[in-house]
Amino acid sequence: MTTLIVNIKELLQIRDATIKKVVGAKMKILPTIKNAYLLLKNDFIVDFGIMDNLPKINTNKTIDATGKIVLPSWCDSHTHIVYAGNRESEFVDRINGLSYEKIAKKGGGILNSAKKLQITSFDELYKQSTTRLEEVMALGTGAIEIKSGYGLTLEAEIKILRVIKKLKKNYPITIKATFLGAHAFPKKFKKNKKAYIDLICTKMLPKIAEDNLAEFIDVFCETGYFTVKQTEKIIIEAKKYGLIPKLHVNQFTSIGGIQLGVKHNALSLDHLEILPKDDLNALKNSEVMPVALPSCSYFLNIPYTPARQIIDSGLPLALASDYNPGSTPSGNMNFVVSTACIKMKITPEEAINAATINAAYAMNLAHSHGSITKGKKANLIITKAINSYAFLPYAFGSDLIDTVLIDGKII
Ligand code: NIG
Ligand code: FE
Repeated sequence: MTTLIVNIKELLQIRDATIKKVVGAKMKILPTIKNAYLLLKNDFIVDFGIMDNLPKINTNKTIDATGKIVLPSWCDSHTHIVYAGNRESEFVDRINGLSYEKIAKKGGGILNSAKKLQITSFDELYKQSTTRLEEVMALGTGAIEIKSGYGLTLEAEIKILRVIKKLKKNYPITIKATFLGAHAFPKKFKKNKKAYIDLICTKMLPKIAEDNLAEFIDVFCETGYFTVKQTEKIIIEAKKYGLIPKLHVNQFTSIGGIQLGVKHNALSLDHLEILPKDDLNALKNSEVMPVALPSCSYFLNIPYTPARQIIDSGLPLALASDYNPGSTPSGNMNFVVSTACIKMKITPEEAINAATINAAYAMNLAHSHGSITKGKKANLIITKAINSYAFLPYAFGSDLIDTVLIDGKII
């Protein structure tokens, strides 16, 4: 099956296959071709160029993109979309003055979601998750990372990871699974935290490895959740099974999670809303991808990750949604890109680089996703007719997507 897209007003994010991430001042550059064509064969991009050089070929399908912009799908490298029910009552509590931390201390927050998930059947959890996955695919996400972490028992964590496995099997979108058993301490372990860490290390990790249910290990390294020491113990154990660290750090406080992540070659360090100079410096001279989650800052009214400072220090940056029931009940990457420009003062070029190639890097997908490159997946967004790509973040909240293709097929 070949598909030809013609008369593309501007084709964004043209990259050589050797480019795995874009760093520092280079993030301001977004390579494009105006008046372009793009040729897809089955799942893959096979050719592109200017319309003047359009080769004479027979195709199964031609799409006319006059006035429209084409870009690689968004890559969302940080989500928690497998959860049960929602927490809108906590949202109302926050409007009425309770803080996120206070709600968590009262047994709300992650433990509230875990209670709901533990009594939800596999089939029901799968059904609720498909709704969210289909929603974000229609919004232009073409690759996604999904974490466990709302189970907090062996059975419930495995249930989540099996739901992720089934989503992978049944949907064309590329999915990466992360084990986040260390998301919060269950109530019954509040007085014996070591016992929960032992459960993670001696029961959960071996089972996950045996059934090949996750590629990454995540820990919520934060005051009131997992200390640096506890985080390190879990990472070291997980690495024995080949899991790669991607960590929640510096969301509310700086406790050394960044230094730990760098020491253990984390693929990405996510959140970073609180980023003292020493922590920023620790990210330098490492291969770690810093990941900002602006929708979380928006929803919780917490500081935005200092993206400008990160990029101006010569570091790369990725953007992700953090879609979850507590801090970010939205997986809309278009909103993430807009909010990054508006609130974190990064340019449209920087934001698009951060939500495509760098986000692909943050889930080990830069070889196959995140740019218009021959041989990469034909996962694409075709916008409605718009004046320029800066209109995408500018017109925040507008639906500017005309067509989404995943594996070369319109969804
Ligand atoms: O990434 N910070 C930790 N985990 C989620 C939120 C958890 C929740 O409130 O349910 C996050 O923001
Ligand atoms: Fe998160």
